[in-house]
Amino acid sequence: MHQPVISGTGVFTPSDTITNAELVEAFNAYAEAFNKEHADAIAAGEIEAKAGSSVEFIFKASGIEQRYVMDKKGVLDPAIMHPMLRERVDDEPGIMAEMALDACQKALAQAGVDASDVDLVICAASNHERAYPAIAVEIQKLLGAGGFAFDMNVACSSATFGIQAASDMIRAGSAKKALVVNPEICSGHLEWRDRDCHFIFGDVCTATLIEREAEAAKPLFKIRSTRCATEFSNNIRNNNGFLRRTRTTGQDLDDRRDMQFMQEGRKVFKEVVPMVSAHILAHLEADGLTPEELKRMWLHQANKTMNDFVGRKVLGRVPEPEEQPNILQDYANTSSAGSIIAFSKHQSGLGQGDIGVICSFGAGYSVGSVILERI
Ligand code: COA
Repeated sequence: MHQPVISGTGVFTPSDTITNAELVEAFNAYAEAFNKEHADAIAAGEIEAKAGSSVEFIFKASGIEQRYVMDKKGVLDPAIMHPMLRERVDDEPGIMAEMALDACQKALAQAGVDASDVDLVICAASNHERAYPAIAVEIQKLLGAGGFAFDMNVACSSATFGIQAASDMIRAGSAKKALVVNPEICSGHLEWRDRDCHFIFGDVCTATLIEREAEAAKPLFKIRSTRCATEFSNNIRNNNGFLRRTRTTGQDLDDRRDMQFMQEGRKVFKEVVPMVSAHILAHLEADGLTPEELKRMWLHQANKTMNDFVGRKVLGRVPEPEEQPNILQDYANTSSAGSIIAFSKHQSGLGQGDIGVICSFGAGYSVGSVILERI
């Protein structure tokens, strides 16, 4: 068995940002126009008037202050309210592969590894821009990597499940150097016209390089162990899929609300927090560790209060800010990439032998944790 290590991470951050104030201004202009257009039906009680959004609510409910997106203009145009991305011809790199290339190259540079030595690419994300060929195979080609590549989707837990898959393959010998890459264009599946969730997501891409310890020039963290768990729930769901034209509703190809991100936010909050804290505690115990030995938690970045609850439950006290760093105030929820952004940007202050855990959670439900030891 080979010992897997993480030797590099990379983050691609889009250049467009949307502040809460910009988002609320666009949403309220859309709601006002909607209410004006449907004034008679609203007055007759046939449809409900759209209520406005508020900066104060967004910050208080989520801790989010801004988000990065691949296209700000379309999202903020009250007549459009979704990103407008140029359709590419099949011969040019897809947008997800392009984001991935940037993140992967940063991870490779940090590790001092040549792309041609990579023999496994896993593209693990909540949404893939097409069914096939796999985005991962396109990334493999653009990088000039060898070996094999495949896509996987476990929604917000895709990165940790991907790290488990890659590190197990490194341990077993079926791969030597693996990139787990998470391009997330969450702005594409978010309903920007729904005030209950329009503030939740942002776009980003992260990459993690995993190698055999014996062959790594600049190892950063030993992967001690990984643990994944799933439990079916409909509380976070997106019904978009390739069978949509086979439906007999008469609106088979129209966008319906259920073909975007849908959630029962309160239920998610209530059910996922205990699941995640119990998962981390059980994983630590199985690895022969106590919560007191845990120096850092790089948690999924969906909601600040949620992370505060998980941190408190795991440590048995309020964590210091550096013990449980958040990036959601700047990036919002970036699905599977969130915990990896936190991991990538908050490694300082850890000494040799210190223990940290990456933990992501979300739709499925799914929870994935990776226990790391600083080298
Ligand atoms: N602006 C102003 N008010 C708003 C609003 C907005 N944008 N959106 C909702 N409200 C109102 C609601 O209508 C409701 O009003 P009411 O009390 O009069 O009925 C009130 O604010 C509270 O809404 P609620 O949806 O219960 O808010 P919340 O405190 O549960 O926060 C979430 C919403 C989504 C932030 C929170 O539930 C959450 O983070 N859940 C977990 C999300 C998660 O991790 N999902 C995983 C995704 S991968």
